[in-house]
Amino acid sequence: MKVERKISVEDFQRLHIAVGWKILSDAQIEIALKNTMFVSTAREGEEVVAMARVVGDFAVHGILCDVIVHPEMQKKGYGRVVMEDLLSQIQAFVDERDEFILELTPTPGNIEFYKKFGLKHSPENMDGMYKWFKNSHLYPENCKKHSMKLQDSPFQAIKNGYKTIEMRLNDEKRQKLKIGDYIIFLNVKDGERLWCKIKNIYKFDSFASLYKAFDKVKLGYKKDEIARPSDMGKYYAKAEQEKYGVIGIELEVVKDI
Ligand SMILES: CC(C)(COP(=O)(O)OP(=O)(O)OC[C@H]1O[C@@H](n2cnc3c(N)ncnc32)[C@H](O)[C@@H]1OP(=O)(O)O)[C@@H](O)C(=O)NCCC(=O)NCCS
Repeated sequence: MKVERKISVEDFQRLHIAVGWKILSDAQIEIALKNTMFVSTAREGEEVVAMARVVGDFAVHGILCDVIVHPEMQKKGYGRVVMEDLLSQIQAFVDERDEFILELTPTPGNIEFYKKFGLKHSPENMDGMYKWFKNSHLYPENCKKHSMKLQDSPFQAIKNGYKTIEMRLNDEKRQKLKIGDYIIFLNVKDGERLWCKIKNIYKFDSFASLYKAFDKVKLGYKKDEIARPSDMGKYYAKAEQEKYGVIGIELEVVKDI
């Protein structure tokens, strides 16, 4: 599967027809796509099987629309893929600015689907659904935060900027991590806290594969140290590694919090 941030008039039309929505003229679709703020699509081979887009004023308001998964491909996770990619585009946009509200009028039966992505449904406030996005640099308290403990040496290595990849088991706790979330590391030696933003999450089947993918300094080793995947065996049993797999969490230290 490939996620892309574009869609052709033909694919847009095909997906609309596939779910039985109103047929639009090509000229209408062309204008609609030109005025789209964000679009996300999932492709299987030659075929675009899912889409979602946001139209808006490029400043404050956006409307989520055309969330479509081809009927033959529904309930296989494609809706989640395009929604998560779209929301990450909005968050990146808002991080350069201030605030943004995404609004939506859901079709019957889909409210629970959108709730999974943080859209709120409060009929006492408004009929549709909505989600406020806040600049995560200005409003870090609104962001998803996770806590992790660290020994002094890796803590200092992250703080000083040379260790940029934290290695963990991909267990239930870590599966909740998302790009853009914050991790607050606690130094077990003295209780110091360090805020980091998750830039990326790389998944591997073992620490051996993870160690091959990164320069050892980024993992926290000194230039003259030997980096052995078995070093992680101190923290995680082999059976656990095989059960969950492992992740490399790419971090950016947030200095001004
Ligand atoms: C709504 C739609 C986009 C969902 O796409 P999908 O690919 O089937 O959804 P996914 O398989 O990615 O499901 C993601 C999650 O939402 C859940 N989900 C999917 N559709 C749901 C629904 N209608 N109600 C509640 N939950 C739903 C899934 O169980 C899954 O949950 P999990 O990740 O916690 O296990 C798709 O059914 C569709 O295109 N429908 C026709 C067009 C339409 O009505 N669009 C919405 C307009 S508002």
